[in-house]
Amino acid sequence: MRKFTAGLFMAAAMMTATVAQAAEPIVIKFSHVVAENTPKGQMANKFRDLIAERLGDKVKVEVYPSSQLYGDNKVLEAMLLGDVQIAAPSLSKFKKYTKKLQLFDLPFLFKDMAAAEKFQQSEAGQKLLASMRKKGVVGLGYLHNGMKQISASKPLRTPADADGLKFRIMSSDVLSAQFEAVNAVPLKKPFSEVFTLLQTKAIDGQENTWSNIYSKKFFEVQEYITATDHGLLDYLVVTSREFWDSLPDDVRPVVKASMDEAIAFGNKIALDKAISDRKAIEESGRSQVIDLSDAERQQWVEAMKPVWAQFEEAVGQDLLDAAIAANN
Ligand code: LMR
Repeated sequence: MRKFTAGLFMAAAMMTATVAQAAEPIVIKFSHVVAENTPKGQMANKFRDLIAERLGDKVKVEVYPSSQLYGDNKVLEAMLLGDVQIAAPSLSKFKKYTKKLQLFDLPFLFKDMAAAEKFQQSEAGQKLLASMRKKGVVGLGYLHNGMKQISASKPLRTPADADGLKFRIMSSDVLSAQFEAVNAVPLKKPFSEVFTLLQTKAIDGQENTWSNIYSKKFFEVQEYITATDHGLLDYLVVTSREFWDSLPDDVRPVVKASMDEAIAFGNKIALDKAISDRKAIEESGRSQVIDLSDAERQQWVEAMKPVWAQFEEAVGQDLLDAAIAANN
C-alpha cells in the first residue's frame, strides 16, 4: 500500500513537472525603430539576454529592431492594445500622452549629457516616469542616445543658412517651432522614411544624433553635418500599466532589475558612440563635419531659444527650472 501511495505521489509529481514545463512563457515583445548597432539596439538585446539568463523558463523577450514591427508613431497604441509589451520611443514622441515631456525638446536646454543625466535622475526627472500612468503608460527608465546635430545638403554655419530649407523632424511641436524660428520648413516624418527622403532630395536635411546618422547611413546622402549639439535625443523605456501589473510578483522585480542593468549598459554605449560614430563619419569622407565657432553657435542659440516661451506653460515653470539647474 505504502509502495502504491509513493508511486502515485511520484506520478503526480511528474505530471505537475510536465505541466509546469509545458506552461507557455510570458512573451515580452520589445519593438524599436533603430539599428541594432546603436545604444537602444544594444540595450534591447542586453535586456533580452539578461532575461533569458535569469527567467529563461518563465519569460521570453523578443526584440524587433529597425521598425520591423511598428514605427514610433504606432508603437504606443500597439503597446496599449497588448500587441507589444515594451517600447522606447524618443522623448519627443509622447505628445499624445503628456505635454510635460516636451521639456526635453527645448533647444539648448542641457549643456551636455551629464546635465541631462543629472536632471533625469533628480526627483523632478524621476517623477516624470509616472506622469502617464493614468493613460496606461508606465515609464521604466530613461535611456540616452545623445545630443543632436543638423545635417543638410548645404553647409549650415549660421541660422540664415537654414532659411527656406526643409527638415525632417520627429513628431514634436517644439521641434517644429525650433525650425520655424530659423525660417526653415519642418516636416514630421517617421524615422524609417528619413533615408529615402534625403536620398531623393524630397527634404534638405534632418537633425539627429551621431549614432543615428551613422547607423542609418544618413551621412552617405547628406554632404554636410553641423556639430550643433543643440538638443537632446533620449528615450523613455515604457510598458503598459496593464501588462506591468499583470506580471507575477516574483517576476516583476527581476524584469525591472534587468531593465535597469540593460539601461546602464546602453547609456555607456551611448557616450562611447557619440565619439566613435562621429569619427567614423569623418573618416568615411562622405560628409563634411562643420564645427561652429562660439560666435556662430551663439547665433543659433539666440534664434532658437525664444521658442521656450511658447511651451513654458504646458511644461511647467518648476520643471523647467529644475532642468536648467541641472546645468550647474
Ligand atoms: C528619430 O525618429 O529620429 C529617433 O527618434 C529615432 C530613434 O529612436 O533614435
